[in-house]
Amino acid sequence: MTVRFEPSGPLRGSARVPADKSISHRAAIVAAMASEPVRIRNYLQAADTRSTLSAVRELGAIVHERPDELVVRGVGLRDAQVPAGRIDVGNAGTLMRLLPGWLALQQGKTFKLDGDESIRRRPVDRIAEPLELMGARIEAREGRYPPFTVEGAPLSGIEYPLPVASAQVKSCVLLAGLGTNRTTVIEPVPTRDHTERMLVAAGAPLTREGDPQAGYRTSVGNADELELGEIEVPGDLSSAAFLIAAGVLVKGSRLVLQDVGVNWTRAGFLRILERMGAIVIGDVEEYGSFAGAEPVCDLDVCHGPIEGTTVAGDEVPLAIDELPLVALLGCFAEGETVIRGAGELRVKESDRIATVVQGLRGLGAEIEAMSDGLAVRGTGGLRGGRLHAHGDHRLALLGAVAGLVATDGVEVVGMEAADVSYPGFAADVAKLRA
Ligand code: S3P
Repeated sequence: MTVRFEPSGPLRGSARVPADKSISHRAAIVAAMASEPVRIRNYLQAADTRSTLSAVRELGAIVHERPDELVVRGVGLRDAQVPAGRIDVGNAGTLMRLLPGWLALQQGKTFKLDGDESIRRRPVDRIAEPLELMGARIEAREGRYPPFTVEGAPLSGIEYPLPVASAQVKSCVLLAGLGTNRTTVIEPVPTRDHTERMLVAAGAPLTREGDPQAGYRTSVGNADELELGEIEVPGDLSSAAFLIAAGVLVKGSRLVLQDVGVNWTRAGFLRILERMGAIVIGDVEEYGSFAGAEPVCDLDVCHGPIEGTTVAGDEVPLAIDELPLVALLGCFAEGETVIRGAGELRVKESDRIATVVQGLRGLGAEIEAMSDGLAVRGTGGLRGGRLHAHGDHRLALLGAVAGLVATDGVEVVGMEAADVSYPGFAADVAKLRA
């Protein structure tokens, strides 16, 4: 599906962005692992998180979908059922990497996982390695790609320094760790901590030591059961980021995004924007805190001039999904914008260094790829044209935002990819334009 996004007049008013994708995946998985029913309010209704509901149903959980909430009756920590066929994770990398952590503690049971064409290009060796160290058996195509099988076993605890800064890998190891005496994940730089907060809320024995500079050691021990009760999913800061960028770039804009999750481990994009001189006001969680609940606030966004910046090191995992937008903002900023140390972008839904550079260059950007990042020279504008989403939701949405500010607008080829996380983006923009 090709959709044209035309240059926009001021965006004004308020919007409620879709529910957080990362937290929705975790809520459905942890609810399926729980022994008592869990009510989930504001679960994300999008393709990725529907894949998670299908997966947990296949594993024996019952999911009642009511208009305003989901009720999940889980099977308990150790009693997942073995589905007849493969578990289809669709396009959802988070589902593919988190679920095996739970499956690994289903002793003597074997599960097969597969997904779409894009998921088949995404590596699973990063979770296979720690799970095998714990005693599970993983067999993957060419040793590292889906389809793959997970064979559950009695697990031993490990101390695991994360070789890549990945919240998905951390979460997978912590879920499996619930079946061990003690498992510790060592993170040299912080990554999103939704799993930790949710496990604490569910009564799991989880402790965390350290700080953002020294890194974290997060440990879990054996749990008999989890109980989550109720959970309300906040708005997704990664989806809000597209409207925030639009608000900053489109002249005369002033918008309020309601009830957005502002956990500091997700808010790197807001700190980068602040450094670029953009005006985004909200009660964002303090850097380095570890409160149980997910913090939420309204974000007030205003159009204004911006300047280039450098994003590197510890900041990268805390803004990983928003880095394509930093590149777009860089086109309009004064001076140069550089992203380094972000090689992980190459293994997302597309190779996001290649697709962002190619996509924005096609719209007139002065942008260069590096092995682990990119550099953009701000020229104050974009000409526009066509951008291919390459089956990547964040690319499709990037093209849509670019269309609102490029002189000739942008035609996004493959806009349906956005359904994975933000199906109503065009409708939200139309409301804010009115
Ligand atoms: C996610 C973690 C990040 C992110 C992805 C969602 C999560 O991936 O890019 O969109 O929900 O844990 P990595 O952990 O692989 O960096």
